Amino acid sequence: MLHVSSLTKRFGERTAVDNISFTVDRPCMIGVIGRSGAGKSTLLRMMNRLADASDGSITYEGREITGLKGALRREWQSRCAMIFQQFNLVPRMDVVSNVLHGTLNKRSTFATLFNLYPQSDIHRAIEILDRLGIAEHASKRAEALSGGQQQRVAIARALMQDPDIILADEPIASLDPMNAQIVMDALRRIHEEDGRMVVCNLHTLDTARRYCDRVIGMRDGRIVFDGEPDALTTTAARDIYGAGDDFSEGATSTQIEALDRTELAAAAYA
Ligand SMILES: Nc1ncnc2c1ncn2[C@@H]1O[C@H](COP(=O)(O)OP(=O)(O)OP(=O)(O)O)[C@@H](O)[C@H]1O
Ligand SMILES: [Mg+2]
Repeated sequence: MLHVSSLTKRFGERTAVDNISFTVDRPCMIGVIGRSGAGKSTLLRMMNRLADASDGSITYEGREITGLKGALRREWQSRCAMIFQQFNLVPRMDVVSNVLHGTLNKRSTFATLFNLYPQSDIHRAIEILDRLGIAEHASKRAEALSGGQQQRVAIARALMQDPDIILADEPIASLDPMNAQIVMDALRRIHEEDGRMVVCNLHTLDTARRYCDRVIGMRDGRIVFDGEPDALTTTAARDIYGAGDDFSEGATSTQIEALDRTELAAAAYA
């Protein structure tokens, strides 16, 4: 369904993504790992068409994505929603309005200008918030919510587009371990229950192992590992992170595992 072929991105002399290829033949949850500067964000940005590729192609269900322009490019961006480390919400706007922003691509300028949303969209926004355990915060300003709650609002906004694919660029990098788990659980559930493809950039190995069906390891713009989490040996991990013999997985841990489930459930619905 998704085919990335010889994809390359150059910034002047620097090659951020260097001739990478992979195919995804069913909607799965993919973790892209690698150290800072490996090219993870650049890859996601090209997939979402926030950045243009220098070379190579991306096709989805047989359709070329890399060359889409104007309305077609925007249509692709709503089928392929993106969430970010910093949530990118409008802080002073209430939660529901932030979520409704997810329908922006589909509405007229007039409706957008006057904040006119159909009732059905408002109901759907609340339903999605409810599914993510944050419906009770619907009328609060986004800035009044915790980081983990704000990231769930961002996920709700993405879901509002009813996307085939969710791209998440370090969605838990600004969160504490407990909120990191709540957000990763939500992404996993969205994948399993809705059958959406999730591609998630992660700094840490243990999160990728725990949540993803497939791990793509990048180093210096290239793919150095592509396989199931079980195949990710310490040697493979060392290769991805370019570390020496003293490499320990602990150094890349988010300590999600160390959490108490009860504490988590309490936090999710607090
Ligand atoms: N707009 C840009 N202009 C110039 N160079 C860039 C630009 N964006 C990224 N780069 C360079 O491309 C390389 C890959 O960057 P990218 O942000 O994709 O890495 P990353 O794996 O997401 O890193 P991190 O884990 O720190 O987010 C880096 O060397 C970066 O400096
Ligand atoms: Mg990045």
